[in-house]
Amino acid sequence: MSLFEKADKIITNFELATKNPIIPTNKEKLFVGVDLGTAYIVVTVLDEDKNPIAGAYRFAQVVKDGIVVDYIGALNIVKELKKEVEEKIGCELNCAAVAIPPGTTINDTRYIKNVAEGAGFEVTNIVDEPTAANSVLKIKNGVVVDIGGGTTGLAVLKNGQVVYIADEPTGGTQCTLVIAGAYGISFEEAENLKKDPGKQLEISAVLKPVAEKIATIINRHIKDYDIDAIYLVGGTSCMLNIEKVIEKVVGIKTFKPQNPLFVTPVGIAMNCINN
Ligand SMILES: Nc1ncnc2c1ncn2[C@@H]1O[C@H](COP(=O)(O)OP(=O)(O)OP(=O)(O)O)[C@@H](O)[C@H]1O
Ligand SMILES: [Mg+2]
Repeated sequence: MSLFEKADKIITNFELATKNPIIPTNKEKLFVGVDLGTAYIVVTVLDEDKNPIAGAYRFAQVVKDGIVVDYIGALNIVKELKKEVEEKIGCELNCAAVAIPPGTTINDTRYIKNVAEGAGFEVTNIVDEPTAANSVLKIKNGVVVDIGGGTTGLAVLKNGQVVYIADEPTGGTQCTLVIAGAYGISFEEAENLKKDPGKQLEISAVLKPVAEKIATIINRHIKDYDIDAIYLVGGTSCMLNIEKVIEKVVGIKTFKPQNPLFVTPVGIAMNCINN
């Protein structure tokens, strides 16, 4: 059995559910997550057994490193995504969990919560992103690293407990800027080129210095812990061979699930309290 067999299955089911939603039998007991990311805003819905049944997402730049920079923009997108999902599954979404990058101040947390509440959710839980991700991965020992659009967040786990969290401002946006500079193209063009399936080998070479920088960040934060494995999630972990670069620099076995992009959003929903 592969290391991430269960997690991969959940994420695949989520991806399928975004295209073909499943009507829940128990509409009163849904688990909902709202991920206000720097790059993607995602609404995730799980049924009473925590199986993914629906979801919607949008690429948007209304949040920067856990800080809502365009409140109205963020609010409108969450409202739209909520409505979209509600129409797909034929019922209203009430409770939701939201997530914050590790180390976010109370003030910034309030904004994130306000966006979800303004869109009509009752926010029943607030979790930090790598901890949310680990609700899907279920790692007992090691470090979960969420390499997102704006930041790299990490959570060190010992016997299933989070013992240390950190967040640093390096992620996918920086990768896109490096590509834009290297090819002399716009940010939007660079963002598309970065995700072009046919260009992954070339892109991974251009982005190697950023991957090495991320590795250095991980190294700095885990140096006082006895870590036997690194687990990558977040959209930037989709980058070809990033796990190999990190493994080489840090010198610790590094793994990533099939699709690291939706691990945190699904994990946020798993932390929704709905009773
Ligand atoms: N195939 C890919 N290769 C490289 N990068 C990718 C790929 N797919 C998505 N990304 C990048 O992943 C990032 C988005 O990841 P994610 O959704 O985890 O971030 P976020 O939650 O929006 O941001 P943050 O957690 O930092 O606030 C974007 O920068 C996007 O360009
Ligand atoms: Mg994120």
